[in-house]
Amino acid sequence: MTVALRARGIVKRFGAIEALRNVDFEVSLGEVVALVGDNGAGKSTLTKILVGANKPDAGTIEFGGREVTFHNPSEARDAGLEIVYQDLALAPHLEPAENFFLGRELYRGGRWGKAIGLLDRATMRKIAMEAFQALNVNLKAQTCRVSDLSGGQQQGVAVARAAHWASQVLFLDEPTAALGVRQKAGVVDLIRRVRDRGLGIVLISHDLPEVIEIADRIHVLRHGETARVFNRGDTDTMGLVAAITGAS
Ligand SMILES: Nc1ncnc2c1ncn2[C@@H]1O[C@H](COP(=O)(O)OP(=O)(O)O)[C@@H](O)[C@H]1O
Ligand SMILES: [Mg+2]
Repeated sequence: MTVALRARGIVKRFGAIEALRNVDFEVSLGEVVALVGDNGAGKSTLTKILVGANKPDAGTIEFGGREVTFHNPSEARDAGLEIVYQDLALAPHLEPAENFFLGRELYRGGRWGKAIGLLDRATMRKIAMEAFQALNVNLKAQTCRVSDLSGGQQQGVAVARAAHWASQVLFLDEPTAALGVRQKAGVVDLIRRVRDRGLGIVLISHDLPEVIEIADRIHVLRHGETARVFNRGDTDTMGLVAAITGAS
């Protein structure tokens, strides 16, 4: 497997708090790595460092085999990394296709069209709907507001959008936390489809049975340090709880 992103020796302090102490982490193309740990273990801090939203105090990040520094999230995005935060960052009053192209809108009428904001809605809808369909995100109406969709459908729109624009690694922060059982199953299926397209996926989740079902590797953080890294099939819920709490 090709390593997409590799971090070594990451240290991050907030005042007297050592949020991350010498953490190594990697994700390859075509694999799902789950990042688990108790509240405060350092999951969000590590993720923000990997996507350029936070700077480490020490450590290096390699991307595609080369050492890189992402100075901000848009540099990471340009390199092919996308993240879906828990709040999804959808614009509720816009339709799914407009959300899909948020910040990347297509215009018609050439340079003039762009200058006067002449959106190419038809093309955007077509591309977005094809992307939703390809990932089995079923939306009855194209022209509704995103806020009129169910929680599972909104999650689907956010994940499909990120999966479309990501070419390397997709980060998902608690993607199923707010969902019902059936909707959860839909998102798990969606994650698998995205993985099978060859993206690396970093899944932050507290849902341990779900993590065991879907992850190729499970990276356990405890008090800012790597407690264990399990390969698929090497642990069960009990073993995972023990690693997370330090009871093993
Ligand atoms: N911006 C911040 N300022 C101060 N402390 C922070 C900040 N972000 C995170 N922390 C602290 O760093 C530690 C790790 O937090 P976090 O990465 O959010 O953990 P997790 O996502 O695993 O719950 C916690 O002790 C948290 O309070
Ligand atoms: Mg967090």
